[in-house]
Amino acid sequence: MGINILGMGKYLPEQKLKNDDFKKFIDTNDEWIRTRTGITERPMAGWEPTWYMGKQAALAAIENAGIDPKDIGLVISCTATSDFHTPSMASVIQYETGAVNAGAFDLNAACTGFVYALDTARRFLETDESLKYVLVVANEALSRFLDFTDRSSCILFGDGAAAAVVERSSKLYSSVLGSDGSGAQLLCARTLDVAPEVAVESDFEDPFPKMPQHKLLQNGKEVYKFATNALPKSFELAAEKIGITKDDIDWFVPHQANVRIIETAAKKLGVPMDKFVITLDHYGNTSSASIPLALCEAIEKGMVKKGQKLALIGFGAGLTYGGIILEY
Ligand code: COA
Repeated sequence: MGINILGMGKYLPEQKLKNDDFKKFIDTNDEWIRTRTGITERPMAGWEPTWYMGKQAALAAIENAGIDPKDIGLVISCTATSDFHTPSMASVIQYETGAVNAGAFDLNAACTGFVYALDTARRFLETDESLKYVLVVANEALSRFLDFTDRSSCILFGDGAAAAVVERSSKLYSSVLGSDGSGAQLLCARTLDVAPEVAVESDFEDPFPKMPQHKLLQNGKEVYKFATNALPKSFELAAEKIGITKDDIDWFVPHQANVRIIETAAKKLGVPMDKFVITLDHYGNTSSASIPLALCEAIEKGMVKKGQKLALIGFGAGLTYGGIILEY
């Protein structure tokens, strides 16, 4: 069983940071950022909460799908940058979009979140016949977790949201979800500290690095190495399951972290770069929102057309990776 993407929508914050704007915080320049990453500017949520961006993207997707939100049976929000530990972003978005008959939960697979969430949506549709539509929302405000004194990481990320309304279909579909938790320390941000009222002395050695407050810490070089293998692997494992090859794919929609990662993956796969949807130049890395933002933009521009075969391939903290091959 496959899925049909009925409609998509997106939301980008009003504020943008251009490469040269970072000179206010760190020793950097436009040329370094462009040549090492491919990024020129990125949207930044100056005031928008994560749930608000998700809601706006979800409303646009519902409108684009032309459905009644009362017919949505499930809302899955993927985010690594929730506004709250609880409630979930999905519960807030479920209420805000009028999806009054839907269950709702959040899913965190970091930048691979949309691949995980879309695949989860398909599995729910397969096992629960009473579900008509699932709303998948990817919403991220990375800027809240960025260490703006760390010049090798703060320039990489952007904020935004994108959403899709999906239904079951008999279209082509394959997926793979993977994780290598041995790399969990390579890209992480802490949540809550032990409350001082209950803290006790212990010999426990925490394998995770100490971090300034709750900011994102990354080992860029190791993540880079992982990413250049994870992208081709995600496609190859999903393709193998249904016996198709790279030549059957019309568009590759990769996680948008660094254009050099995508170029290396394209070379490994033997696929020309013009088959890859690239939006990171103007969005940066928006974590789980990056693949659906790229897909939504490619649909809006008329690049991706109904009936075409797509490979959505991602990687992220965890370290996670995953791929979906589907017909649009
Ligand atoms: N501006 C100017 N110089 C910078 C800089 C910046 N923003 N950031 C780092 N540098 C400097 C470094 O300090 C270093 O200087 P030095 O040689 O004097 O020590 C030099 O540039 C080279 O740094 P290096 O870390 O080797 O650069 P790189 O080519 O590996 O690029 C990343 C760094 C972070 C862009 C790259 O490793 C990367 O993209 N990694 C993957 C990160 C990622 O995708 N994360 C999200 C996963 S979902």
